[in-house]
Amino acid sequence: MPDADPKRMRLLAAEAVAREAGALARRRFLDFSFKVALKGPQDYLTEVDGETEDLISARLHEAFPHDGFIGEETAGRPGSEGAAVWVVDPIDGTVNFARGVPHFCVSIACVEAGKIEVGVVYDPMRDELFAASREGGTRLNGAEVRASDAAALANSLVEVGWNVRAGVAKYLELLRRVTLWGAAPFRSGSGALGLAYVAAGRRDGYVEHHINAWDCLAGILLVSEAGGYVSDFLAGEGLTKGNPLIACAPELKDALISAVAIEGISL
Ligand code: IPD
Repeated sequence: MPDADPKRMRLLAAEAVAREAGALARRRFLDFSFKVALKGPQDYLTEVDGETEDLISARLHEAFPHDGFIGEETAGRPGSEGAAVWVVDPIDGTVNFARGVPHFCVSIACVEAGKIEVGVVYDPMRDELFAASREGGTRLNGAEVRASDAAALANSLVEVGWNVRAGVAKYLELLRRVTLWGAAPFRSGSGALGLAYVAAGRRDGYVEHHINAWDCLAGILLVSEAGGYVSDFLAGEGLTKGNPLIACAPELKDALISAVAIEGISL
């Protein structure tokens, strides 16, 4: 009998598409014959980003023809009035991919009526599939995961996302504030995996002055369904223009928000 729960159908579709797209990215990464270009300063693009996004877009359109689509690399589709919207980063961690570092992922989220319903992040090099549906918990390769129980910044591990959009001064101040309180700063080059790691308790927090929806929406659901705190990323024009982001272990929320003092995110 067909599974009629739309959220579950979208979760299963996102998992299958992420695995298929991840397999393509992995194959192309290993043969290392793709072309690399720059969209702007420090903004890498490989031809595999486009190939992978086309595959994801086509598969989702076949399965859910009325849904909208926002991808990092293509023009997207508006979808029917009021329909769900898929938000996709075909390869998050593009710089790693382009430079031969096996730390990147496929990120697929589905948003409906202002809520993230489904979030899937797939790391094809480690074969790790992080998946969440709203009110359904977060799983890593099928096993439930939870955010860490860190309650103080001292000894905590916090990823500090970087891009050229926010500017040097703001990034350095964020880094200073994170380390001042005793946290160890990380930067892995993939916001989606950074958030997935917070969901799985491998890191205690993730902060960034500006991140785009395709890089973080799936990861946001992973963290919140794993019991973690996430700032209101979809506020204002977050979906189309991005926003600042704080995500962390639940007990770390007040300390991290106060420590980093990111404009627009308060207790
Ligand atoms: C970037 C990565 C990075 C984050 C940036 C993103 P890309 O995405 O997720 O970790 O800090 O904000 O732009 O370029 O690898 O898809």
